[in-house]
Amino acid sequence: VPTIQILSDRLASQIAAGEVVERPASVVKELLENSLDAGAGEIELDLEAGGRRRIRLADDGSGMERADALLAFDRHATSKIRTFEDLEQVSTLGFRGEALASIASVARVELSTAISPEDGWRVRIEGGRVLSVEPAARPRGTAVEVASLFFNVPARRKFLKTPETELRRCLEIVQGYGLSRPEVRFLARHEGRALLDLPGAPPGESGRRDRIRQVFGASLADELVAIGPAGGQVGGLVGKASSAKGRRQFVFVNRRLVRDRAVLALFYRSVREEWRSEDFPALFLYLELPPEDVDVNVHPQKAEVRFRNPRFLVSVDEALRQALGKARGFAAAPGRAIVEASAPSAAWEGLGGRGLDASGAGWISEAEAGAAAWGSAWERPGVSSPGKLAETIYSPLDRRPVPLSGRSGGARTARLLGQYKGTLLLVESQEGLMLVDQHVAHERVLYERLRRDLLGAKPEVQNLLQPIWIEASPAERLRLAAAIDALDSIGFDLREHSGGRLALSALPAGMTGEEAERLVLALAGGGEVPVEAPALRARVIENLAASLACRAAVKMHHPLAPEKAEALLTELFEAEQPFACPHGRPVALLLDDRDLETRFGRR
Ligand SMILES: Nc1ncnc2c1ncn2[C@@H]1O[C@H](COP(=O)(O)OP(=O)(O)OP(=O)(O)O)[C@@H](O)[C@H]1O
Ligand SMILES: [Mg+2]
Repeated sequence: VPTIQILSDRLASQIAAGEVVERPASVVKELLENSLDAGAGEIELDLEAGGRRRIRLADDGSGMERADALLAFDRHATSKIRTFEDLEQVSTLGFRGEALASIASVARVELSTAISPEDGWRVRIEGGRVLSVEPAARPRGTAVEVASLFFNVPARRKFLKTPETELRRCLEIVQGYGLSRPEVRFLARHEGRALLDLPGAPPGESGRRDRIRQVFGASLADELVAIGPAGGQVGGLVGKASSAKGRRQFVFVNRRLVRDRAVLALFYRSVREEWRSEDFPALFLYLELPPEDVDVNVHPQKAEVRFRNPRFLVSVDEALRQALGKARGFAAAPGRAIVEASAPSAAWEGLGGRGLDASGAGWISEAEAGAAAWGSAWERPGVSSPGKLAETIYSPLDRRPVPLSGRSGGARTARLLGQYKGTLLLVESQEGLMLVDQHVAHERVLYERLRRDLLGAKPEVQNLLQPIWIEASPAERLRLAAAIDALDSIGFDLREHSGGRLALSALPAGMTGEEAERLVLALAGGGEVPVEAPALRARVIENLAASLACRAAVKMHHPLAPEKAEALLTELFEAEQPFACPHGRPVALLLDDRDLETRFGRR
């Protein structure tokens, strides 16, 4: 008896469905794409229990006649391509003829559609079986209702997240397509409550900013800088450094919402290189090129594409870098502020009291640097001029080795040789010559100290007389709603007001309003928010400690007395993680003896 058997059609479609339909948001995406392909000008989405119980999407597109309404649910049934040549130049979002068949095999589906009000039909399908077809009066267009997703696939159902999380993902899809099609009106409701209402804006480039304003608010939309020339293949908008909050990077290829790794990687690299920053600004990138130049058939959910001409990515890269340059031109300093003139807050002094004189070191301004009370032989007035390397100072040192007991490596000794251009500490160690970036080292040390302090106690709270108003998209607000109790437990008072605006009226002491806003939006946009209070608290504290440490750490081009430098090194080598700053930059470079010997031709 042969052991190989052909699977039944139903089982085969359920397996295939697994590729396309992973969760409610994938259903929303497929239905939305169908409506857009049908030329809809208005799209309404209704969800229940985050889409797990019910998803209903209605459009005013072309509609279908009776025979098509039935055929639409067959696998490989599509009106969009007919030949292999068509596949090579797809201009619609759909083309596989799989989505409706897949959805219908794992849910209870009702489709009602009409090409004109007199010619309407209702089809009911369950688990892939047609139950009924009957005439139904309705306006032109199509509505698809998907109930009890995965009712017949319990294994899949188990992998769904909470209704809040699934709802957020659905909204993210609607927002994404909303940004792609400013001219289309989108309305999304959850259990009767409108969460997203995007009135139609002008089509194409001119409406993009309007749509961004509708989704994310005016403060973001008004400061965006254009990418590429108008009407070009590479267009869109990029934010200034102040927009580097949350995760607001969107890429559209021929108006298709994608998460293309190659394009995003280009963007991240450009920001790192052009801005020297790990804080990525908002990005709305619209790539428009002839359909035959893009292969859209490379990813099961069409989330990635391939460009037939690799040089296209080069022009994307150039346009991004140019726009990033322009965007930076308007901002004082990207990401990390270099000089903060304000005085240290009381809380900060309380936290930073040990070991290094953190308040003195961190809060000193560049101009004051020369006059600072470091009591150092190295001190020279006017040593630091912002933007330029400080003038070189030679000052031979005669110092004894200091014992540096590393947590990881046991006791070792090292000798401070000097300071290079007010920036790097030169250290002779057993392994070789070490160059320690004093700012990053100080940041690391402060970070660990702050994190310990903050974890140990409830941080002091500062109440604001005027709340800070934060603009967030509906999907971002949902994410925050899940985290509000945990935020509260660490000193944030964040509330949603009418119109979807968020008011922040208290924040942990020692944090500036801008940092608090950045942190709140980072939580709103980044990965999965830990829902349990302790995990969120730990994450917020890490964030808080990192930002306080960065602001307070001794700056570059700052003369550092040898005693201070030694204290810094000693504490650094006792740190849990001595060799990376909280932002991931390296703290020290080692030129080891072998390397030096090779370079001097002694080996
Ligand atoms: N909202 C709609 N309005 C009009 N026609 C629709 C609508 N939704 C689906 N159709 C028709 O049903 C067909 C099948 O839809 P389905 O989503 O299964 O496949 P597709 O869009 O052609 O390809 P893909 O699987 O890539 O999405 C479509 O080709 C289209 O003709
Ligand atoms: Mg489709």
